Amino acid sequence: MRHFLTLKDYTKEEILEIIELGLKIKKDLKNGIYLEQLKNKTLAMIFEKSSTRTRVSFETGMYQLGGHALFLSSKDIQLGRGEPIKDTSRVISSMCDMIMIRTFGHNRLEEFASYSKVPVINGLTDKYHPVQLLADYMTILELGYEKDLKVAYIGDGNNMAHSWLMLASKLGFELRIATPKGYEVSDDVLSDAISFAQQSGAKIYASHNPKEAIKDATVVTTDTWISMGQENEKEKRVKDFEGFEVNELLMCLAKENALFLHCLPAYRGYEVSDFVLESHSKEVFLEAENRLHAQKGLMVWLDKHR
Ligand code: CP
Ligand code: NVA
Repeated sequence: MRHFLTLKDYTKEEILEIIELGLKIKKDLKNGIYLEQLKNKTLAMIFEKSSTRTRVSFETGMYQLGGHALFLSSKDIQLGRGEPIKDTSRVISSMCDMIMIRTFGHNRLEEFASYSKVPVINGLTDKYHPVQLLADYMTILELGYEKDLKVAYIGDGNNMAHSWLMLASKLGFELRIATPKGYEVSDDVLSDAISFAQQSGAKIYASHNPKEAIKDATVVTTDTWISMGQENEKEKRVKDFEGFEVNELLMCLAKENALFLHCLPAYRGYEVSDFVLESHSKEVFLEAENRLHAQKGLMVWLDKHR
């Protein structure tokens, strides 16, 4: 049995296999074919943070695969009143076939998974957001940008930056991260990425210079400066991130026809300008839609590996 907690635990071949499976299921869906690969199965979805895309894509995806999804807000289940994670995990995994959890500390997810009898999927932690990267790479493949891929990530050294580090270092492409001083990616994630890059041939750079990072990039990406749980740091962060907005001037330095990706929700006027987001809405909203297809691939894959 496999969990899906971080791309760190997955090989290049496995990551591509999951995405290919998602693309196949996407094609079937567009042709009105529903194979019901997860008929009679249930997915429990525990949310300790807000969500639009993750909730809608997992719930819809499970339904389309013939199964059922349960939305469990931590406000409504006993976990939110202090029932231990390990008990919650043992109970839910004795009844459901798969569990997705969105939480704060990555250690909460790891603890949950260690007590679960069924596959656990990371629906976002403070450290990683791996399901998002399945959709992001699916979008890159669909739009034909996988060759000579050079990704620039401009912004906070957060869960999205960490997930890009894992994807690049596993798949072997170039990733340049630019963060403000004091907002760098975690040392442990960077050192894991550097060691995977030695095997995959990935080129990984981290700096404080957005202009240098974006130069000739074929894909540009960013994420909110204020992640869930950091709301009270807003004022300081907005000041510290000055010069890191992905706007038209910065985008001009990327390669012509470069893609712009954003996991969403986007905050226009902060990490991205309205113009950049709207002029790249084709790929940004394809990326969002691909959450559905990529995660269907993931759920079918995890079910097969039980
Ligand atoms: N990108 C993403 O995970 O969106 P939600 O927070 O809406 O799920
Ligand atoms: N870094 C953001 C991603 C939201 C999908 C957060 O954790 O809030």
